[in-house]
Amino acid sequence: MGMSLAYKILSKNLINGELKAGNEIEVKVNQTLTQDSTGTMVYLQLEAMGIKDIKTDLSVAYIDHNTLQAGFENADDHTFIKTAAAKYGIIFSKPGNGICHQLHLERFGKPGNILLGSDSHTPTGGGMGMIAIGAGGLDVAVAMAKGSYFLTVPKVLNVELKGKLKPWVSAKDVILKVLQELTVKGGVGYIVEYTGEGVKSLSLTDRATITNMGAELGATTSIFPSDEITYDFLKRQKRANDYTELAADIDANYDKKIVINLDELKPMAAFPHSPDAVKEITEENKIKVDQVAIGSCTNSSYTDLMKVAAILKGKRINPDVDLVISPGSSNILKMMADNGALGELISAGARILEAACGPCIGMGQAPKSNAISLRTFNRNFKGRCGTKNADVYLVSPEVAAVSALEGYLTNPMNYGEAPKIELPKEFQVYENYFIYPPKNREGLEVIMGPNIKPFPLNNALENSITKNVILKTGDNITTDDIMPSNAKLLPFRSNIPKLSESCFATIVDDFKARSEKYNGGFVIGGDNYGQGSSREHAALVPLYLKVKAVIAKSFARIHKANLINSGILPLVFENKEDYNNIDEFDELVLNNCIDSVKAGIFTIVNKTKNKEFKAILEVSDREKAILLEGGYLNYAKK
Ligand code: F3S
Repeated sequence: MGMSLAYKILSKNLINGELKAGNEIEVKVNQTLTQDSTGTMVYLQLEAMGIKDIKTDLSVAYIDHNTLQAGFENADDHTFIKTAAAKYGIIFSKPGNGICHQLHLERFGKPGNILLGSDSHTPTGGGMGMIAIGAGGLDVAVAMAKGSYFLTVPKVLNVELKGKLKPWVSAKDVILKVLQELTVKGGVGYIVEYTGEGVKSLSLTDRATITNMGAELGATTSIFPSDEITYDFLKRQKRANDYTELAADIDANYDKKIVINLDELKPMAAFPHSPDAVKEITEENKIKVDQVAIGSCTNSSYTDLMKVAAILKGKRINPDVDLVISPGSSNILKMMADNGALGELISAGARILEAACGPCIGMGQAPKSNAISLRTFNRNFKGRCGTKNADVYLVSPEVAAVSALEGYLTNPMNYGEAPKIELPKEFQVYENYFIYPPKNREGLEVIMGPNIKPFPLNNALENSITKNVILKTGDNITTDDIMPSNAKLLPFRSNIPKLSESCFATIVDDFKARSEKYNGGFVIGGDNYGQGSSREHAALVPLYLKVKAVIAKSFARIHKANLINSGILPLVFENKEDYNNIDEFDELVLNNCIDSVKAGIFTIVNKTKNKEFKAILEVSDREKAILLEGGYLNYAKK
């Protein structure tokens, strides 16, 4: 039996362990990326490790999330990251340069490399034949310090693509179809690998749209082969030398397989409030639209925005619709300014935003109360857009543009001829937004403004913990629920005490008060606890509020790793029914914690209900050692 492409790349970079699903392995990390929202913590952690130089081939610190400077806080964070990047030998990408994943594809992505990023949509790089994994900030800091990463080997799920997309149907519809089939939990424990003749009909940025939203499947990452289309993209970016041809063996062995017929797909939308609530767009669901937002790391490529410009050309946006557009990179914005497409967008009545994450992270452009907002983004969790009662639909750029003209969620298939975009022979490449580290870095200082507070440290695990349940949640709780992110909170990403006032704010409004009253406690969760963004703060803030363990039916991968890194026990009910026997404020006792961690199973006494239940700790031996030490930083220092 032959090998999948994913396993080929992992085996080429294997440092320790056996490449077998479920085993923990150590792999070489070639590249890392951070964005500013998670980056401040990463560089504080790097500082705490006391290293001199990074060990990766290439590391980039992007500023794309918190670019609005309504006060000194974000600017302080940018300066901190910029000075830390210079000190450690990291490339710095200034605010306004673009969204980390789009820029990384354009400037640095390399087929066959392993990329670790402190952002959950790092798998965008899989569109270029990379193993690109989103991880917690501390994992990325350690990867820079040591040049390696520990990973539980995922299984590989093959998506075979047949046929060719019809006009007006796009890559976004492909991933929405996969989400409809597999759901937001369907990729957990898998790398999703795309093969089949349909792959050849997808451009590199189409592929990146698909691997980007593999994060919404819960997958470790997603990957496409590296072929002549990859070469063509790299050549146009003046990086032909970075190309390597890569593909799975013809008889590759996969753990699971689904087939998608591209020619059967129609334009689709993910309905509120989950990326897998996917339906075809029909006359029956013709909904009046208030806002359309185009951009994000999912759909802000040159081709995406040129299609939008072609659709809007010479027309006027519906007077009841507010259309906002954020380009993926400064290069794209400049090329569209030069070729006139930017003028078409402006004449049609679009608001042009900075090349940054913008509305995707709730940094401005929150829609009005009870609004219907169509977005080309990757997430539509309740409240993420900044307006709690707004309904967000995820759609392709084509659907977004046509709907902005019509004022209704519109299937564009009856809208005349679909735009066809020719790529420029050579992309223009501007380097002026990048700051490369100086050769001589001796004596460089890191500047920390008053917004930057130290991150919380844990103590070694206590052998006996008696605490109350200070919160019980339902299924599919997101990291946005645990630590909300909006324009008011984002400037405090390096200020954990301030953020703690809003912990779990989408679920209860007094979590901090509960924690203070009971001196910390336990959180009970349902299935898929911690899905969504890679936000390390969703573990660091609970750590600050003395959460000792989260006992859930199941966990999302990155959040579970972040809890471990923070020294918070991620326990899974042995019998899911036991979830029903616990109420908020029940008192639970965890005895013999040290032996229980080693054995991987806890017997927990519910003193209030006078009942006992078991919870499993499904982690590697290395992760057990981290939990015993009270977190990765304590462990790494030892
Ligand atoms: Fe930014 Fe949204 Fe992507 S916050 S990195 S554009 S998911």
